[in-house]
Amino acid sequence: MPTKIAAGNWKMNGLQTDMLELQLISKAAEQMDCRTIICPPTTLLGNATKFSKEIFIGGQDCHPEPSGAYTGDISANMLADTGASYVLVGHSERRSYHGENSTIVRAKAEAAIAATLKPVICVGENLQQRKSGDAIETVSSQIKDSVPANSEIILAYEPIWAIGTGVIPSFKEICQMHDAIRALLIKNYGSIGQKISILYGGSVKPSNAAEIFSATNVNGALVGGASLKSTDFIPIMRALSKS
Ligand code: PGA
Repeated sequence: MPTKIAAGNWKMNGLQTDMLELQLISKAAEQMDCRTIICPPTTLLGNATKFSKEIFIGGQDCHPEPSGAYTGDISANMLADTGASYVLVGHSERRSYHGENSTIVRAKAEAAIAATLKPVICVGENLQQRKSGDAIETVSSQIKDSVPANSEIILAYEPIWAIGTGVIPSFKEICQMHDAIRALLIKNYGSIGQKISILYGGSVKPSNAAEIFSATNVNGALVGGASLKSTDFIPIMRALSKS
């Protein structure tokens, strides 16, 4: 069975004072039957890893190279050095604001694995691709190009049009996409493909989490806005724990 994962992506949010939220989330995590990962901004990683007994900590991006003259970037080795154990790669905000294509995303995922981090590889279609019926084809080709030949990964399906908008795909659409991703992973990895966690991301809230987690091939969520406050994130963790 794939590991059930509640992952929070804090994006460019969070100051030292928000460590209290992390403390509350980590305390709640002790009671949950799921894995909790929080990806805070880089500035909070050092402090955040103090909670790594109860929860796992991840970076939000890494450079493909282990070190070098790349001002402002952070390598997978550096993330691992803070005590982090996961890293997001290929988030749609990186793909669109930083021009990252699937070749770069794959190199980042490989760098993460080489540094003993687990990459959470993000894929997802835009609204136009969804409307023209190309969503599954788009995501399949992103997976083909972004995912290295290694089973130590997590996949996050995040329809771009659902991120931060409050709009989510129908339950049927979520099931269809996650079933298609599972079939592709099994085709690529054989029985190992059964065990890779596939997370749904995009406007996950306490009010819709239980329904989303009832889909067979949804093994958790990658949560943005609703991961910033423990009062929103803990009910999502609880819904996953009970699923
Ligand atoms: P959201 O973001 O939950 O705020 O929609 C999800 C994400 O970007 O990972």
